[in-house]
Amino acid sequence: MKALVLSGGKGTRLRPLTFTLAKQLIPVANKPILGYVLDQIAETKIKEVGIVIASETGDYVKEYVGDGSKWKFKVTYIPQEPLGLAHAVKTAQKFLADDSFIMCLGDNVTGQGVKALVEKFEKQKLDSLILLKEVDDPSRFGIAQLDKKGNIVKLVEKPKVPMGNLAIIGTYLFSNKVHKAIEQIKPSWRGELEITDAIQEMVNMGFKAKADILNSWWLDTGKKDDILSANARILDEYIKLDVKGETEGSTIEGRVKVDSSSKVVNSTIRGPCIIGKNAKIENSFIGPYTSIGDNSQVTNSNLEYCVLMENVVVKDVERMEDSLIGKNATVTKNLKCGTIKLHVGDYSEVEV
Ligand code: TTP
Repeated sequence: MKALVLSGGKGTRLRPLTFTLAKQLIPVANKPILGYVLDQIAETKIKEVGIVIASETGDYVKEYVGDGSKWKFKVTYIPQEPLGLAHAVKTAQKFLADDSFIMCLGDNVTGQGVKALVEKFEKQKLDSLILLKEVDDPSRFGIAQLDKKGNIVKLVEKPKVPMGNLAIIGTYLFSNKVHKAIEQIKPSWRGELEITDAIQEMVNMGFKAKADILNSWWLDTGKKDDILSANARILDEYIKLDVKGETEGSTIEGRVKVDSSSKVVNSTIRGPCIIGKNAKIENSFIGPYTSIGDNSQVTNSNLEYCVLMENVVVKDVERMEDSLIGKNATVTKNLKCGTIKLHVGDYSEVEV
């Protein structure tokens, strides 16, 4: 069994951050979302992982993952033009050879990991096993219909006519028969080879395709608000009180992690919160569900429910909420003039 992790794509919905970073590397609780995906694969016995990358952002992914030794598996990089999830499988065919594999999206993570799924797939000798989650708005997702035994009967991408609320989320397991199905399908109206069509083709061909319903959380970090809620969820799940840095004249409330190289001066930090390496917080309030990246500085400001990436400066900002700030960005309030002065990159969003 191998793993295929999709870390290519265009990431258009996360511009401008994706001009200089792969979206799978956007930090959630100060760690790239891709890191959580790889940690979950490392809990299985899989030792060979193929990572699909795009030409624009592949080097960032390679820099983070390296040869995979941190996770004790061997990594093969597979460059792909983003033409759909089934196209990614087709591009990875040489790496996959005749093996079964688990395919994970590099920007999706669930609360239950993948170990039990891999074991079920192997034990039941399935050709496909996919993970589903009940959603409130089925028209935005690929939706699956199952029979009473959990066999897949039908899959429809963004159904206009209601057909249940079980959405296909980013974890799929396949036997080598998936390649036969992919040979049969044509690009969809959006020009992509869809994995939904490939699984439907497997069902039509009579292969053994089942689904499991996820009872835990699922995070898809495709848009800004998704990243903020993923950050909140991960902080809630994983952060414990661990304050190693200086906290002179400060109040620390709840579950807060402060790196030993960071300083918190005359401030209040209310968890769950994480403060990375070499950060400085001064005369400020850092509210719940905030992650402060390495080398960032917050002065005379109040922040809540925010993600600050590395090397960010926030100064004299009375109240900042629900914000995602990219690397090396500066946000300040000019105390002398009442006008707003901006230096904002392409595709940025500013709400004042
Ligand atoms: P999406 O979020 O569906 O696509 P995208 O990355 O192009 O994003 P956007 O819609 O904002 O432009 O992709 C899901 C995951 O799969 C994501 O981690 C990127 C990856 N992917 C590939 O590796 N190859 C592909 O051909 C596609 C479509 C996605």
